Amino acid sequence: MRRKVIAGNWKMNMLPNEAIDFIEKLTPLVKNTKNEVIICVPYTDLFYVLLNVQGTNIKVGAQNMHWEESGAYTGEVSGQMLKSIGVEYVIIGHSERRQYFSETDEIVNKKVKQALKVGLKPIVCVGETLEQREQGITEKVISKQIEKALEGIEQESLEKIIIAYEPIWAIGTGNTATKEEANEAIMQIRKKISEIYGQNKSDKIIIQYGGSVKSSNAKSLFEMSDIDGGLVGGASLNAEEFSKIVQFDN
Ligand code: PGA
Repeated sequence: MRRKVIAGNWKMNMLPNEAIDFIEKLTPLVKNTKNEVIICVPYTDLFYVLLNVQGTNIKVGAQNMHWEESGAYTGEVSGQMLKSIGVEYVIIGHSERRQYFSETDEIVNKKVKQALKVGLKPIVCVGETLEQREQGITEKVISKQIEKALEGIEQESLEKIIIAYEPIWAIGTGNTATKEEANEAIMQIRKKISEIYGQNKSDKIIIQYGGSVKSSNAKSLFEMSDIDGGLVGGASLNAEEFSKIVQFDN
């Protein structure tokens, strides 16, 4: 049985004082869950959040990183920098990074490799646009994204990777994919992973759904056969709402 992993993605929100407040509220609300809880916060919140989650079951992730170890990349943050302060996870290839910051599948692949190299666990995002879904090429698009993102990754590293299936048309729009659509796409991702790494690995890898997840739809989505939890944007900004998503099975 795969575990359920619920990750919040704050995007470019939350000042340090708001972040500390959030952790204070969330901690007692999720302390008894058996599900894995991660919050992916802006760089400027990382240190405060890491200090405040000590001794709790809340894990911390960043939302991006550079693919090089160090060097002349003004304004960038390396995986090693994140690892050195105690960050455990990092979101790679979020559709907003692909869309607004021109991240290609090649860049995503380089970042995944670097994250693994420094001991971070990547949450790798894939997903189709509305146009691609309407053209009936969803499976082709997400299979290619998976293939490229994981190119050259050893099978032993697979257990450190989480995949997030996030249809772009569902992100921040309120248009959640139906549980059947989400499950179907995630099954296609599992099929692709099984072609590359074999059935055993594809049965084990955690694949989340993301895109307008809220407490009112989390249970029906996360109970589907292949959906192992969610990557939650907007609804992760409120501790109470997020705690309900984390404890969808309560
Ligand atoms: P949303 O964002 O939950 O606000 O749709 C999800 C995401 O972008 O990870």
